[in-house]
Amino acid sequence: MKNHISIRNAVPSDLEAVIALDRVLPNEAKPEYWQGIFTHYVAAGKKDRIFLVAETNGKIIGFIAGEVRAWEFGSPPCGWVFAITVSPNERETSIGKRMFDEMAALLKQAGVSTVRTMVDLDNKLTLSFFRSMGLRTGKYIELEKQLD
Ligand SMILES: CC(C)(COP(=O)(O)OP(=O)(O)OC[C@H]1O[C@@H](n2cnc3c(N)ncnc32)[C@H](O)[C@@H]1OP(=O)(O)O)[C@@H](O)C(=O)NCCC(=O)NCCS
Repeated sequence: MKNHISIRNAVPSDLEAVIALDRVLPNEAKPEYWQGIFTHYVAAGKKDRIFLVAETNGKIIGFIAGEVRAWEFGSPPCGWVFAITVSPNERETSIGKRMFDEMAALLKQAGVSTVRTMVDLDNKLTLSFFRSMGLRTGKYIELEKQLD
């Protein structure tokens, strides 16, 4: 029988599980980064900052983070997804899709009609995932310069 998987808002006690999940190789541990994200996105309890986890049998097997950002780069308010991870053992069973769909619904409730993300061009897996979620190349491009 398939285990029940719930998608729910993160709570402060999920922090260690999120750090561990993000640590999957080749990622380095970033405990201070996630602590800061939890302070601003989990503890703050704002409806335009969203942090969801996927849980089964008391175990966290995925997370997604997003928010509404307004007027950055001259853009009217829109939703951004800035992190998504599913445990390697649980991938390709639609958990990423379920978390993204819930995020999209909550962003819509928060008042926006567009969702954006940024993807490393070399990360074919993430590109494939977001394409499958219906995201396409938008009208902004990233510019950067190495500072000597
Ligand atoms: C990207 C990621 C979140 C996808 O999660 P997932 O639960 O495995 O994805 P789903 O099962 O919901 O798949 C949804 C769609 O994504 C695409 N996809 C998922 N895994 C894929 C793979 N290995 N190869 C190609 N396409 C894939 C497919 O189009 C799939 O739709 P389909 O099942 O109809 O074919 C997961 O692979 C992951 O955690 N990757 C590592 C972390 C990462 O790179 N995060 C992004 C940077 S923040």
